[in-house]
Amino acid sequence: MTALESPRRRRFLVRAIQFMGACLTAGLALPALAYLFAPGRRPSTGAWVEAGTLTQLRLRVPEEVMFRRTRVDGWKIVNEKAAAWLVRLDQNEVAAFSPQCTHLGCAYHYNSGIGEFVCPCHSSNFSLDGQVLTGPAPRPLDRYPVRLEGDRILIGELPPPPGSAI
Ligand code: FES
Repeated sequence: MTALESPRRRRFLVRAIQFMGACLTAGLALPALAYLFAPGRRPSTGAWVEAGTLTQLRLRVPEEVMFRRTRVDGWKIVNEKAAAWLVRLDQNEVAAFSPQCTHLGCAYHYNSGIGEFVCPCHSSNFSLDGQVLTGPAPRPLDRYPVRLEGDRILIGELPPPPGSAI
């Protein structure tokens, strides 16, 4: 009887091979799972940044504000400049709009003469609450979530436009 024919030795060799296979599988699978499910893989959401104060806004007079936002996207941390149009719609209600037209992304402005947002590219007009009044824009202005903390106006991240796949 050779050494390989011994049932104890054969069982030991089979278990050793199975153990090495399991180690190899874990060695390949764990980094792949960590890559897929680590929190840093997804863009951060829900980060609130201060964009202004309630007292700086006059009722129904839009103001464009700039702010900086730190965004985590995958393994990248990006500190970027962003803008928003703030409109104090009521004593305690503020709307914050993305500064890009929902048609093809041009920067629109506020026309105080007619009290509307006007896009110079293809003449879309929007009301102070962001609704489309005229033009080819297919949907209302994109709106940031807004939270008031005392006098401070905090804005969250812009939700993906309707119908976009993320
Ligand atoms: S980009 Fe604003 S109307 Fe076309």
